Amino acid sequence: MFERRSNIIKDGSKLSFDYVPDKLVSREKQMRDLEKLFSPLALDGNACSAYLWGSVGAGKTACAKRFCQDMAEYFYQNNKRLSNLYINCRVKNTEYAVALELARLYDPGFPDRGFAIDEILNMVQKKVDADQTPLVIILDEVDVLLKGGSRNLVYQLTRISEAIKGKSSLSLILISQYSLASMLDEASMSTFRRANMISFSRYSEDELREIVRYRAEIALEPGALSDEGIGMIAKLSEEFGDARFALEILERAAHAAEMDGLAEISADCIRSGSSSIYSDVSESKLNQLDINRSLSLLAICRAIKTAASVSMTHCEKSYHIACEEYNVPAKKHTQFYTYVQDLERQSLIRTEVRREPDGGRVTYISIDNIPPKELANKIVYLLDYVKRGENDIE
Ligand SMILES: Nc1ncnc2c1ncn2[C@@H]1O[C@H](COP(=O)(O)OP(=O)(O)OP(=O)(O)O)[C@@H](O)[C@H]1O
Ligand SMILES: [Mg+2]
Repeated sequence: MFERRSNIIKDGSKLSFDYVPDKLVSREKQMRDLEKLFSPLALDGNACSAYLWGSVGAGKTACAKRFCQDMAEYFYQNNKRLSNLYINCRVKNTEYAVALELARLYDPGFPDRGFAIDEILNMVQKKVDADQTPLVIILDEVDVLLKGGSRNLVYQLTRISEAIKGKSSLSLILISQYSLASMLDEASMSTFRRANMISFSRYSEDELREIVRYRAEIALEPGALSDEGIGMIAKLSEEFGDARFALEILERAAHAAEMDGLAEISADCIRSGSSSIYSDVSESKLNQLDINRSLSLLAICRAIKTAASVSMTHCEKSYHIACEEYNVPAKKHTQFYTYVQDLERQSLIRTEVRREPDGGRVTYISIDNIPPKELANKIVYLLDYVKRGENDIE
């Protein structure tokens, strides 16, 4: 039981969401901006603040955690101390819950009940003062807290920060996918001036490729994922620009390859990984295809088999065979091309024109979201039991 059947994964913990990588690919600018904003803290112990915002899976949490760990290490190297507290406001989603987390940083046995938020914060202020150690609080997904009408806590924290003197200080890093301006009152907003904002845009396909390559390098055995596989995962997640999505595909594909006892992660493992997270191939979409488009898609699935992509010519040959099998007259090339375009419009397939070594241009077709064999089975089922006898619709 639970035996690894092959050697794909070297260190699975490095694929998990919680793992904070040593370096963040393509986020050098954001890390430099954080360093600039926090240099008053590192050099003189003064309070600082930053607001990180941007789209889903864009590396906000990872950057904030990496930065705080690096900064704590810098303090340690310089014989100084720094306290860090990370709070995810989706988990601790009330002002009270956040205040309790703060109190427990200094007093782990702090009781669940019996104190008002103001009392807790007063106590925290005294503790930070007495501790003689700067504190950095990361409030992640802070919009959850602010949307609930809880603006007071952030305001109070900024006030505490101003009130603390001496060697201690309280710095804040707020993180959200949304703009803070609409959620904070002006007084708190003034702490998070425009200059303190660091934005995180969606990752491009190239950036995702480098992220997948890096994470595969530290988590998988050498050679477990080919360049083509890396490219495939990057392409699949490019629509969302989301590194989390890419890493989830990578993790699932790696496990699938191990379960199948493969020496390398195959294109099919990647497709299964992706289809188990998010499948664009709903039964209803397939049901709506007429017999010609169903046969075209079936032919493409069969032509692709386990490859990453195949040429249009190859697919067309396979289409003729499928038509023969189902006793349906095959359409001419231009008509087949229209079917392919229709299927692409419905996100069932993807086409790409590539320049061949002889200078010619060839259209390649790929299916990303689902293993072609699985999709072919679904289509055959529909063709055999549902569409049999259906009219030939153009
Ligand atoms: N540049 C990067 N290099 C390596 N790994 C990355 C990079 N960016 C993100 N990751 C990884 O991708 C996953 C998602 O990143 P992260 O959690 O930081 O996104 P986020 O911006 O906080 O998203 P959300 O808004 O949904 O919380 C994490 O596992 C993180 O380690
Ligand atoms: Mg996050």
